[in-house]
Amino acid sequence: MAGNWKMHLTAPEGVALAHALVSRGATSPGTVVLVCPPFPALDAVGKALAGGDILLGAQNLHPEAHGPFTGEVSGPMLTAVGCRLVLVGHSERRHGMGESDEVVARKLRAALAHDLVPIVCVGETLAQREANQTESVLAEQIGAAYRELSREAVQATVVAYEPVWAIGTGRVATAEQARDAHRSIRGALERTAGAGLGERVAILYGGSVNAGNAAALFAEDDVDGALVGGASLDPDGFRAIVDSASRAHRG
Ligand code: PGA
Repeated sequence: MAGNWKMHLTAPEGVALAHALVSRGATSPGTVVLVCPPFPALDAVGKALAGGDILLGAQNLHPEAHGPFTGEVSGPMLTAVGCRLVLVGHSERRHGMGESDEVVARKLRAALAHDLVPIVCVGETLAQREANQTESVLAEQIGAAYRELSREAVQATVVAYEPVWAIGTGRVATAEQARDAHRSIRGALERTAGAGLGERVAILYGGSVNAGNAAALFAEDDVDGALVGGASLDPDGFRAIVDSASRAHRG
C-alpha cells in the first residue's frame, strides 16, 4: 500500500503526517505500507518513521548515480536517506515531463542497481482506452521496461497499473477494468520476462483510490494493493485503505 504525496507537503508538514499515520496505526501485518514524500521531505519523514513499520519511498530518480544533471536526484542519494522503494515512470512524468519508455527502462535498472524496489507505473490514456488500445499500450510499456531483465531482477520489482484517466480525476476504474488490466500486465510480464513471472510480481492499482472504493478493488485477486495519491494525504483515509487491504488479505 503506497501513498504518493506528489508535490505536496513541506518537510515539517510531512513529519506531521508521518506522526499521524503512526499514531493512527496505518499498518497491518502482512501488508507493506510506504509513503513517497517529495525530495526535500524525505530525510525528515524517514527519521520520523525510523524503526516503525511504514517504509520510505521516493517519487523519482535519475538513471545515473552522479554527474552534471542539475536538479536531479540519484539512487544512491535516495538509499542514503533511507528510501527502500522508488516510483518509476509515473504518468505525471511520462506525460508531463516527456519521460520515454527508454528512460523508464533505465530508471528501473538504476533503482535495482542501488537496492531500491522499483514500482513501475504503466497505464493508458482515455483516448487509448476508447480506441481499444489498453492491452497493447500495457504490453508495450511492460515490454520496454522489462526487456532483458534477469528473472531475479524482475521478481524484485512491483508494477502499478495507473490508467491516466483515473489519476486525480475522481473517476476510479471498476474492479473489472482493474482486474482485466492486471491480467494483461501479468501476460505481458510472462511474454517479456519469462514463464511464471506474471504471478510473481505484485501489481498495485492506482487512480482515485479512496476509503470508499478500495474494498471493491481489493476483492479482485489480481489487485495486490494500491498506489494512492490524493487520499494518502489524509491519515484517517489512508488508514482506512490499509485496513481494507488487510481485510481482503485475510479474507
Ligand atoms: P490519485 O493519484 O489517487 O490522486 O488519483 C494516484 C497516483 O497518481 O499515484
